[in-house]
Amino acid sequence: MIKIVEVGPRDGLQNETAMVPTGAKVAFVDALSESGVSEIEVSAFVSGKMVPQLRDAAAVFQGIRKKKGVIYSALVPNIKGLDSAVATGADKISIFTAVSETFNRKNINTTVAGSLERFRPVVRQAKKLGLPVRGYISTAFWCAFEGKIAPAAVTDLAGRLTDMGVDELSVSDTTGQATPDEVAALLDVLLPEAPADRLAVHFHDTYDRGVANVLKSVSYGIRVVDSSAGGLGGCPFAPGATGNVATESVVNALAGTGEKTAVNVEQIHLASELLKPYLPEKTPAGPDPESLACKTCQFSGGSKCCGS
Ligand code: HMG
Ligand code: MG
Repeated sequence: MIKIVEVGPRDGLQNETAMVPTGAKVAFVDALSESGVSEIEVSAFVSGKMVPQLRDAAAVFQGIRKKKGVIYSALVPNIKGLDSAVATGADKISIFTAVSETFNRKNINTTVAGSLERFRPVVRQAKKLGLPVRGYISTAFWCAFEGKIAPAAVTDLAGRLTDMGVDELSVSDTTGQATPDEVAALLDVLLPEAPADRLAVHFHDTYDRGVANVLKSVSYGIRVVDSSAGGLGGCPFAPGATGNVATESVVNALAGTGEKTAVNVEQIHLASELLKPYLPEKTPAGPDPESLACKTCQFSGGSKCCGS
């Protein structure tokens, strides 16, 4: 059985320019709760200046009807975020760092080492409270600023997070550039260090490779897959990155391989429909041509960009 972690309410809505009303977010999460997903990342307790779309995280948590058996998690960047998540009854927290120094600076205003120092007390406190901890490893394949990421660097970061006490690692293709061969190359070196039952995969779908990458990961024994209803999402600090791979597409594709999920696609569709009045029509997949990396060298500014 493949577990689906629905990240639309957090990863999806953080990247929509539209401000979705709190009541609509609550209705969205409640509808997702009926879909059979194992876990819902409800929101993020981060700086409201950086991600104004999720300023109402506490109100969303307070408004939702929790369904037994579903885990409701929150993204937190520091102790302040952990305190807010605990106060609103989150069942699990997610911390987030990246292999790329540049992306970390832009996303959480610190270095990779600085992020680990910041997260150490967060993980310690969460464990004391009995909360499971997920750790995102962003830019695990490519970075919009630093280019291709070496699998060894991902393995190293995975080891550091594990040593800190993180329970689950979500290996993230932040920009949606990974190919199935790159997924295989990473898992070949990562799995001996971090077994499949501690890993999740998180693919953005910028180049329509999300489903192929999920299928490749599952063929390696990965059993937890992140996705977002309707393919909502992206990261405001990763130029060009578009939505997560759509939950509907993942569930349909897995069904075709004989792998089971507990997810009802029709219910995911109903949940997505609830947001339609608030969001612009989805454009076809592919990077936003205005915001993606330099067209000549694919590095978005920074020291590696050719500057053309
Ligand atoms: P900073 O400026 O270094 O930190 O930001 P600070 O402690 O100086 O705080 C700055 C302001 O933020 C202060 O407010 C704090 O109170 C406030 P001010 O005094 O200026 O009014 N603040 C907070 N407010 C609410 N909740 C908090 C919190 N912490 C500080 N927890 C910080 C550092 C990490 C806080 C900031 O950079 C931040 O919030 N970054 C989050 C950015 C973000 O959410 N990015 C998207 C999620 S990551 C992602 O999408 C990738 C992922 O999907 C995987 C993948 O695809 O790769 C997970
Ligand atoms: Mg993401």
